[in-house]
Amino acid sequence: MCGIIGYVGNEECAPILLEGLRRLEYRGYDSAGVAVHDGTQLNVRRAAGKLTALGDSLARSPVHGTTGIGHTRWATHGKPAERNAHPHVSGDIAVVHNGIIENHVELKHALRAKGREFLSDTDTEIVAHLVDIETTAGATLFEAVRATLKQLRGAYAIAVISKRDAHTLVLAKNASPLVLGVGDGVMLAASDVPALLAHSRDVIFLEDGELAEITREGARIETLAGAKVERAPVRITWSLMQAERGGYKHFMLKEIHEQPRAIEDTLRGRVSWEDASLEPAEMGISAADVAGIRRVVFLACGTSFHAALHGRYLLEGLARVPAVAELASEFRYRDPVIGAGDLVVAVSQSGETADTLAAAKEAKERGARILAVVNVQGSAIARMAHGTLYTHAGPEIGVASTKCFTAQLAALTMLAIHLGRCRDTLSADRAGALLREFVQIPNKMRTVLETAKHVETVARSILHTRDALFLGRGLSSAVALEGALKLKEISYVHAEGYAGGEMKHGPLALVDRDMPVVCLLPTDSTLEKMLSNVQEVRARDGNVIAVVDDETVAKDLATHTLRIPPTLEPFTPLLSIVPLQLLSYYVADLRGTDVDQPRNLAKTVTVE
Ligand code: G6P
Repeated sequence: MCGIIGYVGNEECAPILLEGLRRLEYRGYDSAGVAVHDGTQLNVRRAAGKLTALGDSLARSPVHGTTGIGHTRWATHGKPAERNAHPHVSGDIAVVHNGIIENHVELKHALRAKGREFLSDTDTEIVAHLVDIETTAGATLFEAVRATLKQLRGAYAIAVISKRDAHTLVLAKNASPLVLGVGDGVMLAASDVPALLAHSRDVIFLEDGELAEITREGARIETLAGAKVERAPVRITWSLMQAERGGYKHFMLKEIHEQPRAIEDTLRGRVSWEDASLEPAEMGISAADVAGIRRVVFLACGTSFHAALHGRYLLEGLARVPAVAELASEFRYRDPVIGAGDLVVAVSQSGETADTLAAAKEAKERGARILAVVNVQGSAIARMAHGTLYTHAGPEIGVASTKCFTAQLAALTMLAIHLGRCRDTLSADRAGALLREFVQIPNKMRTVLETAKHVETVARSILHTRDALFLGRGLSSAVALEGALKLKEISYVHAEGYAGGEMKHGPLALVDRDMPVVCLLPTDSTLEKMLSNVQEVRARDGNVIAVVDDETVAKDLATHTLRIPPTLEPFTPLLSIVPLQLLSYYVADLRGTDVDQPRNLAKTVTVE
């Protein structure tokens, strides 16, 4: 996730671009840059680090002009560094980009064969080259961008500026957001509305497959195929604060709703949407590495540990390799037996958690291979690992992890399918069937999100409870743990997650009519056993809230049901966690807690 801004008007634009980027910094903050046209040439300025570094650089030596583009970066390809910061330049062209160009490797090969040289490790730089080739051959900037887009596969929002035209920007969108701001003799473009509000409240949302040319006079919008698009601006009435959260009351709620996109971005470039195949080169682990694996050890903390449990179940199931999931904070202090032949998968959204980092380092010193599954490019765990499988959830601001968790589930599911194929424990047919379902998951998640209002009603019914239990078996046991963690961390309701089979060994003693018991009952291999556990709860008058993909399953058992669409077993957690996140969110919000910054907790824990 990155932030884009563009301005064509009458004022000095560098301060306007910087201010816009400040409003977009939530989308990424590892480096930033601008390209400003001074009437004669393009001046590009970039800086690694937070936006203040770019601000300082521009204060020391300003760039002047009334047309420009800017970018704040959240690294996906290439580590955070000035040379990878946007804009990227080729000839007369400068480009900023948000998204992932899936076919960048083949395009880069082809461009190199034509003698083009690359100055960065990004996928974006190819876009600058492709547009430059077209304009050099005589195309207008608009047509050059159109011709370039036809060669790209993947997600993008781009803004392009040319040295040859001091008063025009060209923009395009596919799967990444882009919105135009209409002012009086001024046009802007940005990844999100807050960046525009200081200059315009009348905005035009671009749709996928559209490109636009903006000048002071207005916008010309067309589809890639060349059809004209007439779209009236809509008036934004949100306050700036509301706009930063995309209109949601809290970042957590916004991030819950961003999950389908986070999954799509995590799969992008690794699973082909067309033929549902896997792209092994993007998996962070080679076939040779796989051949030497005796055992897989997952190391993680908190929510990431719950994702690790999911990874462990799936890896054993699909790749038939012994796997364990360990709390990093425990692993370090018990003289673990680990070494050559062990693949350690360190799972961490921040990539900075002190315990996970130290545990992975210790395993590395003892000879294990380390694969990082992290969300932050260039983070400490990614740097020390032998290979990294990045989740592409974008920056997560709410302390309680939601979209990073489901992106981790998705990444670990891909890993399990990949290892299953490499080890030949998973047939091509079965892998194909799994991958075909995998690409449906984002849309199925969207249908779960549509039930938010109903989940809020259920939340209201348990609002004053002191305790809650969450039960699941098999793959759903990790979901039960995560559901309980979500509820306790943001609403301060005491909640426990249990493997269903453990109920009768203790927690059953707690059950009475006041106890909400959230039961995960998807139609899977553990359903029958789970139903017996739920009977035990009902027999003690427990208040059962059932997560089901088939309403009839819990008909006489549950006070409330939370519906998810049916899916194949490995993907159930990706859907069943969503109503639980929403349930926690609404309980917390209705109780009036500080949802995004719960008391005593931190987003990144760098102490042991
Ligand atoms: C903190 C955060 C959690 C997170 C855990 C592990 O407790 O509040 O949301 O799950 O750290 O963090 P990591 O960055 O390693 O995933």
